[in-house]
Amino acid sequence: MTDNTPRNSLTLLGLGDMGTALARTWLAAGHRITVWNRTAAKAEALAAEGADVATSPAEAVAASRLVVLCLLDDASIGSALQGVDLTGKDLVNLTTGTPAEGRARAAWAEERGARFVDGGIMATPTMIGVPEAGGYVFYSGSRALFDTHRAALEVPAGARFVGEDPGHAALHDVALLSAMYGLFAGISHAYALIDGEDIAPKDLAPLLSEWLGAMGFFVGSTAERLTSRDFTTGVVSSLAMQVAATGTLLRTAEEQRVSPELISPYLELMRRRLTADPAAHGGEDTAGAITLLKR
Ligand SMILES: NC(=O)c1ccc[n+]([C@@H]2O[C@H](COP(=O)([O-])OP(=O)(O)OC[C@H]3O[C@@H](n4cnc5c(N)ncnc54)[C@H](OP(=O)(O)O)[C@@H]3O)[C@@H](O)[C@H]2O)c1
Repeated sequence: MTDNTPRNSLTLLGLGDMGTALARTWLAAGHRITVWNRTAAKAEALAAEGADVATSPAEAVAASRLVVLCLLDDASIGSALQGVDLTGKDLVNLTTGTPAEGRARAAWAEERGARFVDGGIMATPTMIGVPEAGGYVFYSGSRALFDTHRAALEVPAGARFVGEDPGHAALHDVALLSAMYGLFAGISHAYALIDGEDIAPKDLAPLLSEWLGAMGFFVGSTAERLTSRDFTTGVVSSLAMQVAATGTLLRTAEEQRVSPELISPYLELMRRRLTADPAAHGGEDTAGAITLLKR
């Protein structure tokens, strides 16, 4: 297909907090950008800053070959782009979704004659256009599309291509976010334990940070054990010992009048792994308990 749109032009649908941050960064980098938002008023400030404002999704899509979507959820993409001609377009979807939604959206785009890449944004709007903030975006799907537009995609934040499966950007995104919430749960429980005691949260904070940093080894060691399926070699904190110690954690929560709801699921998973076969699993690393999670 011939591309008649200027080399550094792109279209962005969605001017929420994230979309607006993306648009400003592309504008600041000298890109010509056409924007559309369901609530038109949100485009006014960007128009003053040099963006072209389209009055419909169809008009916005027609303006550029590269079309970036940053809407609330997958359903909003379907409603915004219903009946819009996508032939020859390169769609980059930065709307958060599940892996299955990414794959279905890729098939949907292909049926309409468009190339497709899904994205997972690992940044907040304040980190967009601020390279030192360390934000980046996972991309997956059409490698050819990614290579064509790589320079533009690297403007708002780092760009990490994680494969041609269009579900894998979302999968990476959600894997990291899920780990983050597990971490938040543990931190929340720790602060609840000291609440009301003569220990200032600000005094616990550096100790907690240091401890979590030291325990970061678990990320790499677990990857190695899952790859080798060897959960026992070199174990110095056995599952049997850790399950025995969970009683102390639960009794302390009770003494401190703190609900164990945030930590008990993981403690219970370790206990299940041990009791399934104490002789086989007692000497394992806790990484072995991961095998119980897959349904
Ligand atoms: N903000 C963050 O920290 C962050 C971080 C990573 C990823 N993300 C992802 O980025 C995406 C956008 O986030 P955001 O922070 O910009 O959200 P937001 O401020 O809530 O904006 C949502 C956007 O989606 C539009 N929208 C919602 N339903 C629509 C529909 N049915 N048809 C057309 N447009 C519709 C809204 O239009 P109106 O203005 O008309 O309501 C608005 O432009 C989300 O998928 C979010 O998960 C956000």
